[in-house]
Amino acid sequence: MAFELVGVVGLGTMGAGIAEVFARAGIRVTGVEADEQALARGRDHLDRSTGRALQKGKLTPAERAEILGRVTLTTSRAGLRDADLVIEAVPERMDVKVALFTELDGLCKPSTVLATNTSSLSVTALAAATARPDRVVGMHFFNPAPVMGLVEVVGTVVTAPGLVSEIADLAVRLGKTPVTVGDRAGFVVNRLLLPYLNHAVTLLDQGVAGRDDIDNAMKLGVGLPMGPFELLDLIGLDTACEIMGVLFEESRSDRHVPSPLLRSYVDAGLLGRKSGRGFHGGPADGQPEKAAARTVRVVGLPELADRLAAAGFKDSDDPDVILVAGGADPGSPKTVRVQLTGQVAQLATSVLTAQEAVLGARDLLKIAGYTPVPCRDRAGLVIDALLFAHLNDAVGMYESGYAAIGDIDAAMRLGCGYPAGPFELLESAGLATVRDGLRALYAERRSPSLAPAPLLDHLVTAGLTRFPRP
Ligand code: CAA
Repeated sequence: MAFELVGVVGLGTMGAGIAEVFARAGIRVTGVEADEQALARGRDHLDRSTGRALQKGKLTPAERAEILGRVTLTTSRAGLRDADLVIEAVPERMDVKVALFTELDGLCKPSTVLATNTSSLSVTALAAATARPDRVVGMHFFNPAPVMGLVEVVGTVVTAPGLVSEIADLAVRLGKTPVTVGDRAGFVVNRLLLPYLNHAVTLLDQGVAGRDDIDNAMKLGVGLPMGPFELLDLIGLDTACEIMGVLFEESRSDRHVPSPLLRSYVDAGLLGRKSGRGFHGGPADGQPEKAAARTVRVVGLPELADRLAAAGFKDSDDPDVILVAGGADPGSPKTVRVQLTGQVAQLATSVLTAQEAVLGARDLLKIAGYTPVPCRDRAGLVIDALLFAHLNDAVGMYESGYAAIGDIDAAMRLGCGYPAGPFELLESAGLATVRDGLRALYAERRSPSLAPAPLLDHLVTAGLTRFPRP
């Protein structure tokens, strides 16, 4: 199909971004909103996003005018009649989407492809609500749509042969990389991403570590572009909670139970960027307490010892703080267990550790040039607990036959800006390290979803260090 005129219904953050993506690719777009106020918000999104590109010199004023000139904004759905493709990006409610698809089905020409940008609802159920189930697909973009390079193209058991690859070709024309998948809750990205984000909320709720410390650990320790709480605020806490609910409905897995703390934020109307406040954006925390550690003993961390010695700290037999390498016995109220990952220093504190020692350790690690992440001494601390469980989910997804390793890696790199895909991260961390870390997590929590995926276990047992790829 030529796809010369595309309709976008719903011009919130995602819909407006999708309209921009099509217009940038030279395709005419009719953007539809329910009322004038919502339409004005959509226009504002488009103006701001293209304005930002203009300011950065990425677009000339003439190019920007051309892009905006390709977009017709209206409150009338009649303009969609002759569209070759209509994508909906309305709120994530099945009843709302079914009503819209039923209307579009009656309105649009028979050849129009109806697509949903749903992040987790059943594309098959939407297809079945129309008289053209063979011409209904999922076309899932990522926030911010003009920036993220992935489109998940979702076909169902009733999609016409060839349509999925036509939509994948269209995604390429938009400058995106398509990953084609079957209709399963959360597709690839949300099925992997959301449980990881939810897990971060659980660690916060359990007091394992603070919000900013968890964000820092995952950005600086793993190289992710945003911390989990920053990303939740971008996605929207209500959307995140809804996706978790849909995942749980389908899987009944303990890993998919929405965190009660996440629900509380949603109930309180703190939805993230869209409402001005979510995990971030509230009143600033008070000044961190100060501690004055003057003397220190460092055990099993030669580089840290050198850096502290260079900063003038002398090794002492009766120190204010004892910093020990991971695995060494925490032992006394002055002892803090340190695990260094890149520039992040996780500071594990036990029930024995004195608050003075934690504050002292935090300041010493800052002086030594690390980003300290104080946390409770739990299996995997923050980074391995979140990352290994996330990577295990990816292995489980591959093992279930839902998606190929290359597609899972590409989806997380392009959809979420990961520096490497889950399998690449797994191989660079070491399969045995991740398997053993998962065993420790499982032994502590007894949560079935934390048990190493059988394939991971088998590869380690067979002495392999890479996943088999075709
Ligand atoms: N709209 C348009 N353009 C935007 C933008 C927005 N909202 N935000 C950033 N940009 C552009 C900037 O203009 C800039 O463009 P150029 O490179 O052409 O100059 C580029 O993006 C990089 O922006 P910045 O340098 O300002 O910021 P950054 O380097 O911190 O990157 C980011 C910002 C691209 C958002 C990056 O932090 C990132 O990749 N984050 C991960 C986002 C993610 O995971 N998204 C998926 C969420 S899941 C989802 O959406 C699916 C769902 O169903 C819930």
